[in-house]
Amino acid sequence: MERGDALPRDLAGRRVVVSAGGTREALDPVRYLGNRSSGRQGYALARVAAQRGAHVTLVAAHTADLGEPAAVDVVRVGSALELRDAMRAATKGADAVVMAAAVADFRPTALAEHKIKKDGGDPPPLQLALNPDILVELVAGREPGQVVVGFAAETGDESGDPLHHGRAKLARKGCDLLVVNAVGDGRAFEVPDNSGWLLGADGSEQVLEPGSKALLASRVWDAVAARLG
Ligand code: CTP
Repeated sequence: MERGDALPRDLAGRRVVVSAGGTREALDPVRYLGNRSSGRQGYALARVAAQRGAHVTLVAAHTADLGEPAAVDVVRVGSALELRDAMRAATKGADAVVMAAAVADFRPTALAEHKIKKDGGDPPPLQLALNPDILVELVAGREPGQVVVGFAAETGDESGDPLHHGRAKLARKGCDLLVVNAVGDGRAFEVPDNSGWLLGADGSEQVLEPGSKALLASRVWDAVAARLG
């Protein structure tokens, strides 16, 4: 979307919730397990929804320094469990939910009270627990008419192309729409542009041509607005 292009006000009166950024799973008071998400795509989704008239809550985990988006309520979280609590609260009564956050699948089983020290021996083993799948939980608890959108960062591998993985993930997660980004080779993470496919639970499949994250956000909101009727 180029600056100055008029955006439709088709989300006026709608309440939407977007998650963004990467969760951080604390290991001790100074260390965490994290990921490379910058939060740019989630912020673009929040900004574009606000420009299209929605009341937007942005639940933001760790992000690059992106500035506060105008006319958006921002809730800051750290870990996946905090993100889950914030999403549960924010999505009550919402018309649409977009899970653009990169949620850590695992967290350290225990948070060490003090900084973990070298003692000259073998490094201590890292014990991990599985985090809840927040998207699956939101789908299971969704209110009638609420549209739920997931994201999937996929690399092609010997067992299939990104789209093949995306279709399987859409079925597994049960959301209405899934944005599939092809990642690896510097694509999607920490860069301004994005591309991929938008898959619908109704079998629809739209190519998302390479473009700004705001443009991709617009395509997502087009599809959400169509489903909200
Ligand atoms: N997600 C979530 N909770 C998790 C993991 C992922 O809500 N614990 C959401 C993400 O926000 C995203 C979607 O699920 O919208 C897909 O995330 P992804 O990391 O691609 O999926 P995983 O379930 O972790 O699958 P994979 O086995 O490919 O890692």
